[in-house]
Amino acid sequence: MELVGLLRRIPDGEFWKTPGVPVICADHYMRFGQRALALMQCSFYVPSSLVAEEADPAKVRIMVATIPEYSQKHSGAYFTPDAVCAALVAWAVRKPSDRMIDPSCGDGRFLALHRNSVGIEQNPISAHAAIERAPGALIHEGDFFTWATETHERFECAAGNPPFIRYQSFKGEMRRRALDLCLDLGASFSGLTSSWAPFIVATAGLLKRGGRMAFVVPAEIGHAPYAAPLLDYLVQSFAKVQIVAVRDKLFPALSEDCWLLYAEGFGGNTDAIDMTVVDNFLPARTPPKPTLRVDLDDWRKVWNRRLRPYLLPASTRSLYAATLDRSDTHRLADFASVGIGYISGDNQFFHLRPSEAKKLRIPTNFLLPSIRNGRAMPDTQITKATVAEWARKDEPVLLLRLARDMELPKSVRDYLDSAPGREARLGYKCRNRAPWYVVPDVQIPDYVMSYMSGRGANLVRNMAGVSCTNSVHAIRVRDKALAAKLMPGWSSPFVRLSCELEGHALGGGMLKLEPREAGRIAFPAVANRTRAETEALEDAITVMQRWRHYAD
Ligand SMILES: C[S@@+](CC[C@H](N)C(=O)[O-])C[C@H]1O[C@@H](n2cnc3c(N)ncnc32)[C@H](O)[C@@H]1O
Repeated sequence: MELVGLLRRIPDGEFWKTPGVPVICADHYMRFGQRALALMQCSFYVPSSLVAEEADPAKVRIMVATIPEYSQKHSGAYFTPDAVCAALVAWAVRKPSDRMIDPSCGDGRFLALHRNSVGIEQNPISAHAAIERAPGALIHEGDFFTWATETHERFECAAGNPPFIRYQSFKGEMRRRALDLCLDLGASFSGLTSSWAPFIVATAGLLKRGGRMAFVVPAEIGHAPYAAPLLDYLVQSFAKVQIVAVRDKLFPALSEDCWLLYAEGFGGNTDAIDMTVVDNFLPARTPPKPTLRVDLDDWRKVWNRRLRPYLLPASTRSLYAATLDRSDTHRLADFASVGIGYISGDNQFFHLRPSEAKKLRIPTNFLLPSIRNGRAMPDTQITKATVAEWARKDEPVLLLRLARDMELPKSVRDYLDSAPGREARLGYKCRNRAPWYVVPDVQIPDYVMSYMSGRGANLVRNMAGVSCTNSVHAIRVRDKALAAKLMPGWSSPFVRLSCELEGHALGGGMLKLEPREAGRIAFPAVANRTRAETEALEDAITVMQRWRHYAD
């Protein structure tokens, strides 16, 4: 995707309003075709920092990815399929006189379904598209949180699809304003929240008493830590809250799964979340009937404020919860610590093949075999034979392990001063440590666990004293007796299900376990299960794998 056309140097933050001078952002051009040309002539924001110093400012081509505000990924600009918009608006709007808001209206596809509506959109191209598409609606171009802080308007209903902007990009003044506004409304988000959750809270704050809202939400609502304050806010602010978990993709082109949120009776509260678990979205004017009621006490105390476990049959949840309740069931963090491995700063430079080490004459006491990623992990344990096999295959697994104030032999000094060494020291991590060649936090873990997994997480015992990078988890056992008793249960159906419930879907069928999540994996002492119980646990693993699209 590239930005094509004529650029002019303008001060940051100003809009470029030069009719007749087309600037076309390729991703929007593909979306709107010729219409984009006309729109672009009206206004386009080009931060002056993007105009390359050395280039002729009048004629430059810049990758649109360098315009974070408007790149599709950074602004979360993924527009909703018509059938989904129609279903949400049909439910939210009860009377023609109902005033509806879409806080991030994109090209106006929700607004076009109801004349009496208001949309806010920060991207001028999309805002103009919305004006064309929904002529009956009132459209404000700008940041929703600024607008929401200042407006006195209140609405009967809201519908939309808020932008999913991760915390790394959802930052600065906009995030501060969003989080302050949510705090005023009674929802406390940390700086790690993605943008969609504050969008929903801030929109709820604009509803009249008794108001309703219907939104597309990322399936992260079922597991993300920041989904918990959102759900807490919703149950304290609405008489009825319903989540529709949809297994098939609402947006076939996206790796992100989406669910639907319906909330009504603003100003009320509820002690349960209605949940509907369906395989696919079926267009209808009302949400599908709830298939279960999520008791908030259970959600908080048993399920760590996650909705994902409710994808399982109630009988399996009870079996799992009863095992969790036993005093001889322990979380991994009860007897071991889960940390990340070292960050070398330049994996290629710091990991040598045995043949390279030999050629460079690096003494073996400066080299430590290491697991570089999950793919390199054997099935159950890392033994001397595993390391010998790596050496036979001449794998790049030998970490150059140097310590501060160490006397370095000439061969090592020569390698550090070689062309790859001079390049490695310029990298971010190396630049910010002294001396640049000492890789910090190199540990010898007792076990190594995969961080991202396909079929299931892998745990291997480290019998060979190898180290590991941060692409896998480094497990250090604190209570050896408990570990010896429980760790052999790793491949049991209960522990595998626990990995599915404590971890989360990453997209592409992968299961991701953050260190915090891995620490919660539950190990029961019970080994004997009835055949029916074992089958129920195995079925539950298959259900969770299907929800993360493993082997779809
Ligand atoms: C997921 S899209 C949804 C658009 C539309 N509601 C739909 O579903 O088709 C999110 C939209 O939010 C806009 N957006 C991102 N940050 C915004 C902000 N702070 N204020 C207003 N709109 C914003 C993006 O430009 C994008 O058009």
